[in-house]
Amino acid sequence: MKYPFLDLAKVNEPYYDELVRAAERVIRSGRYIGGEEVEAFETELSQMLKAPYIIGVSNGLDALRLILRAYIQLGVFKEGDEVIYPANTFIASVLAISDAGLVPVPVDIDERTLDIDTSLIEAAVTERTKAIMPVHLYGNIVWDDTLVAVARRYSLKIIEDSAQALGAYGSQCGLHESSFAGALGDAGAISFYPTKNVGALGDAGAVVTFDGELARVVRTLANYGSDRQYHNIYRGFNCRIDPIQAAMLRVKLPYLAKENSDRTERALAYQNTIDREGIYLPYITHEKYDQVWHQFVIRVVNYKRDRFREMLEREGVGTAIHYAVPPHKQPCYSGMAHGDLPVTERIADELVSLPIATGTSVADAMEIGRIINRLDF
Ligand SMILES: Cc1ncc(COP(=O)(O)O)c(C=O)c1O
Repeated sequence: MKYPFLDLAKVNEPYYDELVRAAERVIRSGRYIGGEEVEAFETELSQMLKAPYIIGVSNGLDALRLILRAYIQLGVFKEGDEVIYPANTFIASVLAISDAGLVPVPVDIDERTLDIDTSLIEAAVTERTKAIMPVHLYGNIVWDDTLVAVARRYSLKIIEDSAQALGAYGSQCGLHESSFAGALGDAGAISFYPTKNVGALGDAGAVVTFDGELARVVRTLANYGSDRQYHNIYRGFNCRIDPIQAAMLRVKLPYLAKENSDRTERALAYQNTIDREGIYLPYITHEKYDQVWHQFVIRVVNYKRDRFREMLEREGVGTAIHYAVPPHKQPCYSGMAHGDLPVTERIADELVSLPIATGTSVADAMEIGRIINRLDF
């Protein structure tokens, strides 16, 4: 494949020497759970996001699960309470909600942003609604006055699924001093899955919050519910980040700004090159927010999406779909009660993600754009 969708070895190649040195440091330390490496990672991420509490955890799904479970422990939520989420998201957002015994309530998306239509949130609020989970999908911050006003009016927690948006920044937005995605609401979840803009060499994630009490409960829950050795105040889990992954991430975090600006260049190359009726380009929010282009998602509206992908593959261009089947249509959620979700259901057949990660150069992006313009349907 001339233009693979993603080549993770290539993504990590520039960091190879530093990663090996960091791995050696951990191997020699003899400390394979917790310890200095994890503490340093948490401090560095906290400085980066300008948020006081960071808890390194096993992955992004666990970060969300722990936040929701912590609110249950704190008596803020109880089983059967409802959490509003965008219907077009990765399954993990919804798995976290149902895993905690809460009820996921999907809200339809805005056709331009492909993310939650904030004007529809209020109509989905019931007496049992306790939280909104905005998902900064594709690296694009979703946050506006409507969302905050509804949260305030009904005393709802805002729990950000910021798995895809590390480094995305919305000036003057959010409930606290930080304007970084993940630190805007009451609590946020970050994923360091290997394909993310900063990926671990395995699974890893983090919880972000300004709430010290929530942070304490999350940290305790992630460590068997244990507040001190052999003393368990909660029925917890083992959801800690591995020091080896913390060390890998400490190598890569300082390069996040470069990674994100490289992706922006590729996104601009696509924007400036692709010009074809029936191919809709992603909505740009630069004026308001700095998006970080985790994915570059186009909509293939006038053509058969699968045929379009096949033809691109024949030209050596790898693509992906985020997401072909929305969570409420997955077999594990058959029978989920929900309102009409016409936009989500329609666009699920139109989405195509183009290569955007390291390994795809600006010249590659322009060539892919030209290939799309001249594809013969
Ligand atoms: C929107 C979204 N939420 C949650 C997750 C879960 O993160 P993880 O894969 O680290 O469990 C992911 C990524 O994989 C994601 O893209």
